[in-house]
Amino acid sequence: MSAYLRLGLNIDHVATIRNARGGIHPDPVRAAMVAAKAGVDGITAHLREDRRHISDADIDRLAAEIDLPLNLEMAATEEMLAIALRHRPHACCIVPEKREELTTEGGLDVAAQHRHLAPYVQKLSDAGCRVSLFIDPEKVQLHVAKALGAAVVELHTGRFCHATGATREGELQRLREAAAFARELGLECHAGHGLDYDTVQPVAAIGEIVELNIGHFLIGEAIFIGLETAIRRMRALMDDARGDAVVSV
Ligand code: PXP
Repeated sequence: MSAYLRLGLNIDHVATIRNARGGIHPDPVRAAMVAAKAGVDGITAHLREDRRHISDADIDRLAAEIDLPLNLEMAATEEMLAIALRHRPHACCIVPEKREELTTEGGLDVAAQHRHLAPYVQKLSDAGCRVSLFIDPEKVQLHVAKALGAAVVELHTGRFCHATGATREGELQRLREAAAFARELGLECHAGHGLDYDTVQPVAAIGEIVELNIGHFLIGEAIFIGLETAIRRMRALMDDARGDAVVSV
């Protein structure tokens, strides 16, 4: 069977809870430490323009105190570029950002925005960051991601996670085809958004996908069973699905 499937924990919503009271608890850096103990392969944090959850100080501390690879999610803005270039995290995942949205609602339209994105991909790559573009599972987006010189694409799994019945199977098929096409193009393929214990396995079984980034569900589940246990349970489901994973040919 296929390569190991990495798990990145998105810690944004630890900061959401902290910020609800404006204090220092719960601390997302402490969550990252617990996650490291539970065996995650990386930490993901989204520094939003409005700083609604992760703060600049969180990024400073994550960079300084956590040994795991940091995946900085960021909008393609000059402000975020300057922060990324100062920290040079392992990876930078460029995401679309709208102030009014509750979460990242759709993939980045790299096909429409390629002129705007090109210097960001270039400068971050030149600085040694693995640049990832968070896109919907569409061929045109993959083509343009490749043309832009990104090393990685992260496929948006939100539609699959929210769909039911035949639509769900159709969305899963789109993910399978996009992952296979990413591999054909030589792009490393990640996936994430909305994944939980019920939806993770069909995605984990797509052999071309080498990393999942999961946040909201695991942080929520941690309230009931603890973060370490929640992560280990997710890891076990991923490993189980990976045993049957298929790489499309
Ligand atoms: N990947 C990306 C690029 C995201 O923007 C998010 C949400 O911040 C995730 C993964 C994780 O999504 P969720 O919190 O729904 O698991």
